Amino acid sequence: MTNWINEIEQLKRTKNAVILVHYYTVPEVQDVADCLGDSLALAQFAQQTNADMIVFAGVYFMAETAKILNPTKKVYIPDLESGCSLSNSCPADEFALFKEQHPDYKVISYINCSAAVKTLSDVICTSSNALNIVNSFPKDEKLIFAPDKNLGTYINNISGRNMALWNGNCHVHNALKVESIIELKTKYPDALLIAHPECQQIVLQFADFIGSTTQLLDFTKKSDKKQFIVATETGILHQMRKHSPDKEFFIVSMDAFCNCNDCEYMKLNTLEKIYNCLAFEKNEVLLDEEIINKAKVPILKMLNLSRIYQKL
Ligand code: 13P
Ligand code: SF4
Repeated sequence: MTNWINEIEQLKRTKNAVILVHYYTVPEVQDVADCLGDSLALAQFAQQTNADMIVFAGVYFMAETAKILNPTKKVYIPDLESGCSLSNSCPADEFALFKEQHPDYKVISYINCSAAVKTLSDVICTSSNALNIVNSFPKDEKLIFAPDKNLGTYINNISGRNMALWNGNCHVHNALKVESIIELKTKYPDALLIAHPECQQIVLQFADFIGSTTQLLDFTKKSDKKQFIVATETGILHQMRKHSPDKEFFIVSMDAFCNCNDCEYMKLNTLEKIYNCLAFEKNEVLLDEEIINKAKVPILKMLNLSRIYQKL
């Protein structure tokens, strides 16, 4: 049987490659990461790496972002079918029309969107910096927030703004049920509810803590509580359990019959496919030069703003 981990490690050294991995992938993929993180951390790592080759075990918009930041490097994705329902919910041509209907608005786009939508945006944000990015605009500035309606509504609520929202969502987070929370809270009354802001407001209103995947993980590491009800994709549980073996984690489910909040796109990443990227340079992410140049502007704006906020 092939030892994928050994083969991957060897190829990484000979090709000066790095593997970037999101928390929603399967545990064995997370375990070969050079950088394992949320969307912001992965973009920051991509911006700074000296590697010649990047394999991005996440979803397509993440690999695209890495390519936009590294146009001269080779960027690969283990499976070209690793899309994102949230990104798909905002086709660039329809978004361009929406923008036309809001002529004097600035556009803030969540990083879960296509490179084409990024070219139509003034600044990008992620779930970890969305509030700071929105607050970097004057209070009276007219703003569009796309594509996640749930995250946009949450930011409107906590910032007191009234941003025009694109009506998109993530099929995993949008489906998490409040009934499941009530059931888990009844069973584990001391457990804290932690939620990703892509969830619906009805879920977020019960949350003790709301944050990006990294922020949720950090919260569980630092908290002195022993039980957590987790409202996001199941992949994050691997790191939560690894870092806090003495704590218990209960996932909020999508329906009454399964506990499987899997993002099928993230789960397409396997060790064998990572090996294929490294060995055969399979599934290179290629983008038009004009798109790269235009999409880079709002991404760099976000990265520069984040650098300032992270120092504060
Ligand atoms: P994070 O940036 O919080 O990791 O979120 C990425 C994502 O796709 C959530 O569904
Ligand atoms: Fe996209 Fe949802 Fe999967 Fe995140 S969990 S990558 S938003 S489909």
